[in-house]
Parts: sequence; C-alpha cells; structure tokens
Amino acid sequence: MESEDFEINLGNSFTDIRKSSQEDFIEFWDNQANSLTWFKHWDNTLNWNPPFAKWFEGGLINASYNTLDIHQKDKSSKIAIFWEGEDESQRTLSYSQLFSEVKKFSNILKSLGVKKGDRVTIYLPMIPEIIISMLGCARIGAIHTVVFSGFSSSSLKDRIEDSKSKIVITADGGFRKGKIIKLKDIVDDAVSEANSVEHVIVFERIKNGITLNEKDHLWSELMENASDDCDAEQLESTHPLYILYTSGTTGKPKGVLHGTGGYLTHLHSTYKWAFDIKDSDIYFCTADIGWVTGHSYVAYGPLLHGATQIMYEGAPDFPDISRMWNIIQKYNVTIFYTTPTALRMFMKFGDDIPNSFNLSTLRLLGTVGEPINPEVWKWYFNIIGKKHCPIIDTWWQTETGGMMISSLPGIESNILKPGSATKPIPGVSISVIDDDGNDVDSGTKGSLIIKNPWPGMLMTLWGDDEKYKNVYWSKFENMYYPGDYAIRDSDGYFWLLGRSDDVLKIAGHRIGTAELESSLVSNDNVAESAVCGIPDEIKGESIIAFVVLKDGVEYSNEKLNDILKDTVRNSVGAIAIPKEFYFVSKLPKTRSGKIMRRLLKAIANKEKIGDVSTLEDGAAVTEVQSAFEELQKSVNASDR
Ligand code: WTA
Repeated sequence: MESEDFEINLGNSFTDIRKSSQEDFIEFWDNQANSLTWFKHWDNTLNWNPPFAKWFEGGLINASYNTLDIHQKDKSSKIAIFWEGEDESQRTLSYSQLFSEVKKFSNILKSLGVKKGDRVTIYLPMIPEIIISMLGCARIGAIHTVVFSGFSSSSLKDRIEDSKSKIVITADGGFRKGKIIKLKDIVDDAVSEANSVEHVIVFERIKNGITLNEKDHLWSELMENASDDCDAEQLESTHPLYILYTSGTTGKPKGVLHGTGGYLTHLHSTYKWAFDIKDSDIYFCTADIGWVTGHSYVAYGPLLHGATQIMYEGAPDFPDISRMWNIIQKYNVTIFYTTPTALRMFMKFGDDIPNSFNLSTLRLLGTVGEPINPEVWKWYFNIIGKKHCPIIDTWWQTETGGMMISSLPGIESNILKPGSATKPIPGVSISVIDDDGNDVDSGTKGSLIIKNPWPGMLMTLWGDDEKYKNVYWSKFENMYYPGDYAIRDSDGYFWLLGRSDDVLKIAGHRIGTAELESSLVSNDNVAESAVCGIPDEIKGESIIAFVVLKDGVEYSNEKLNDILKDTVRNSVGAIAIPKEFYFVSKLPKTRSGKIMRRLLKAIANKEKIGDVSTLEDGAAVTEVQSAFEELQKSVNASDR
C-alpha cells in the first residue's frame, strides 16, 4: 500500500497555529492559556530558572472549576461519564451530577481535616469515584496521588510514606477478569505501617462485607450527610495538582509532580488538536487512571472540554476478546484511544471478531505508551478504522504531562506513516542528538531531547530537586532528556525506538530494572539478581531475571520460580512478575562492578554477542567473552 493511502483529511487547516508557535513559543502558550477560565490573569507567562519552570506565574486557577463549574450553564445535563462495569453493570453521570458529587466529596475531605497542599492517596479501581476523588482534591487544593490498584501493599505503603498522605481512598474490592481483588485488605496492610494516615475512606463496590477499622469511614455514609455547596479554591497556577509515582533507573519510584495552570493548558490544547473533539463525540480511552494516560486523557482532558466519555472498569478481554468492540458498538463510540499491547492481542484473534460488530461510528483512533509495529498499525487502520479513521500515535511521558509528538487531525491533515508518531506538537521543540549533544543526520539513531520548557512539564520530583536535575537535565546541558532513542527521517517524522535506559516497558507500563532487582534480592534465598527485557509478541517486552542464589539454597528450580514470583507479586505487583528465571552462579560484571546488561540480553534472547569490543565500557574483550561463556554454561545447567 502506498503511504498516501494513510492520509485522511478531516477538513481542518489551522496553519496559523503552527506558524505562530514557531515564532515565539512563550507567546504561543500564553495565547493557548486563554482557553481556560482563570480567576486572575497571570503576571508572567514563563519564569524559567533552568531546569525549574513556573508557567503563568501570578495567575489564579482551579482544575475542578475548569472541568465542572464552567459546564453548568450549557452542559449540565450532558453525560460526562458512561460507566460500564466489568460485570456489565452501568452508571451514567451528567455534568451536573458529577459536579454535585465532587463538591460533596470536597466537603468531606475538609471535614476530615484536609487542607490546601495536603496529600491524599487514591487506591481505587476504574469507577467514577476515582475521578470524583481527584477532582474533590483539586477543588480544595489538596494534592492527589493515585496509586494503580494493581500495585502491592508494599508499593502502596512506600508511596503513602513518601508523599506523607493524610488520607487514603479505596474500595472494598475491584473486579479483574471476573475475580475479586480485595483492595481493602491491601490497604489495611499498607496503612498499618504508614504513620501519616489519619483516615481511610472506603467505597463499597463489591459489597462483600468488610471490617471497618478505627480510621475507616464508609464513602456512602459520609456522602449521605455532606453538603454540595463548596466553592473552588483560587489556587496559584504553580500550585501542585498531583504526584504520580513512576519507575526510573533507581530502586525507588520517582514522584513526578505536576502543577495546575501549565498542565491544564497543555491538556486543553492537545486534547483539542489531537482528537479534534466535537460536542457530539463519544470518547473512549482504555487507560487505567492509575497511569498518566488516565490522568491526562480520562480525568482531565475530556472534562476540560465538556466531552462525553466511556469509562470501563475491567480487563479488555473479559468475558472475551470482543469486549472492546462490544462497548464501541453499544455506546456508538466515535474516538478510541488504546495501547499497542491491546491491539496486538486483539489482532492475534483475527479479523472476524471485530468484523462482526458495527464499528461504523468510529471516526478517529489513537495509540499510546509504546512503539506500535507497522503491521499492527495497518490492522488498526484497515480492520478497526475501515480505512476512514486517522490514527494518532501519541508519544509522551508521565513527566511531559501531555502529548509531545503526534499527528493532530484537529488542526491539520498529515500523511501518516505506520510506526511513526509523526511530528512534535506546536510550541515544543524536539530533536535527535548524539552523545556530544549535536543534532544527528536524518535517518541516524540518537537520543530524543526536548529543547525548551513546555507547559505540561513536571515541576520537579517530589521532595528531590537534585534528582530531578540529575535524571532529566544533566545528560545534555539545558535540554530535557526523556530516555528514549529515536530517528528523525528526511521528512522530519520521528520514529521512537524504545528506552535508552534501564526502564522496561511491559504492556506499556514502566518498570524499573533496579526496583525489580531489589525486590528479588529481598527474598532470603537470593544473593544477587539482574533483570532485562526480551521482545514479546503481545506485551512488547517481557522480563527475564538472572538470579544468583545464596549458598546452601536447596529448593528445586520450579519451587524457586514460584517463591520468587510471589516475592515480586507482593513487593511490586503482578505486572512485574518475570516470565523466566535463570539461576546462575554469578552475574557478568565489569571490573568496576557494573553488570554487563547487553550480555544478559544476548543470552536471554538466545543470541550470539557479536562484536564484544563495543559491548561494555571498561571491560576487556577477553573478559566479556569468558563472562559470556560462563554465563551461557550456567544458564544451560539451570535449564536442565
Ligand atoms: C514510551 C506513557 C513509542 C516511551 C504516556 C516513553 C512511546 C515512555 C509512545 C513513557 C509512543 C510512550 N511510541 N514509545 N507513542 N508513548 N512511549 O511515563 O519510551 O508510562 O519514554 O507514559 O513510554 O511512559 P509513561
């Protein structure tokens, strides 16, 4: 198929947007910010004290006001959320109902002593209460920190402790593939060790009977008596909206801190440009709110625009692989935003399943979170979009707050290239550079970098300005380093090639190797461990763990597999469980003690190591070769 076949023009041609963004990015974003409702206009568009940015300094704004209050005149009866439970139960919330619930919840938080700037941990499944909690916090200036409900009690405890949250909001349980996940039990474990927590609010989703502890309150009882009269606080544009923990290259997850005015400006603009959002659209993003896509393009982006969206509670393949197509048909979905992992899984089951549903209401498709293989992209285009829906492949990160590279059908038509995220959004400047910081030629692989500050950017890492500087701004002077490899082709299109650091992307979720290694080493049987990713047909990557056992450990490999899987499940969460374990006598290391990771990868992928001279810094060729042979021998022995 010719690449021209992938151009779909939605009739938008706002060329002045790109043009003005190229003249002066600060003035450009200044104009964009006028789309929001401010209590007080800002004094200074950008205060840039590298690498700390203060966007719209002096301005007063509120995220809850911009997602709810502003719609009460024209859209109060419009549906904000069509919620579909995994068990097919349904709920709908209009903009006025959502407004009233949020105000009540803000009052509850206040009555429990929550003040502006206090942290509130939210550990909920995909139910409307997760959005009500977030907006309830935002309304009074409390900082929400949502923890994905698939994380273990120990991960939850670490995040509660790091953020020193006063309140935890949870549910009795959640549904996942028909099973009940007892969230309250996990919270009980975490809270018993986290001293900062004063109150726990429990929403009854499963209604299977729970024991309430001293700090616990039932959501329903609190709401019954709460008033729905609560004005939105007028907050500084730079007031923190939320902390979202994400994995990096160190053992401890980083608390990415986002502000209010800049973040909302970025979301308002990108949501409009990328999704070409119309009042009549039914938007469906499959991301869990526990991750950044759910924060930006489920909780905030659609509501800023008064859009109607579908929120789905459970697994995308429950009770069977047709669930997503079923939902699209049932609710007449017009915009569908999902992940390459989900698409690879759907594609595996063939065309007949989606073809047996009426998907004709779809008009725009999107993907996020990991590179999409060109053949999967084409399948999405042909089979799901029936060749009439543009695809947006959106590259961004927890740290960027919103989309940074994407085709933007809402402002212009682009020729789409399957597998390329296309071009940077207006107002951001992105390049590919070599290790010396020079732009590489088109077609050459290098590090992706962002040259100027942008409004959705993180403000810092919670409680750790130094780490913020070191992780993102020290590799290349005054440039933001996202940790991705990329190529820019001769047409200026960006092709993302995955992470250049020790971060794994499993089913689109970020897992730090160091975090996983410290989890494995926490098991009494383990002396040392190193993990790496190998390509996986569905999940993009899966995890292989190399483990050195302590002397005298005498279990069978099979039993050890189970023990170590449990360790990871309990300390990080089920998403991080390695697919395979190799029990080896020692890990290959350079003389300075650095693990030779590429060597591990070669073994895990059952490849030869090729030219070892370029493999690792500081290791002699013979050293690498003998380490490789030794490791191979020990892996073979462990296979037997
Ligand atoms: C990867 C998810 C290729 C990338 C929104 C980035 C992508 C990391 C894409 C951030 C894409 C995200 N194509 N790779 N369209 N989108 N990534 O913080 O490696 O969970 O650095 O944010 O996902 O993951 P995070």
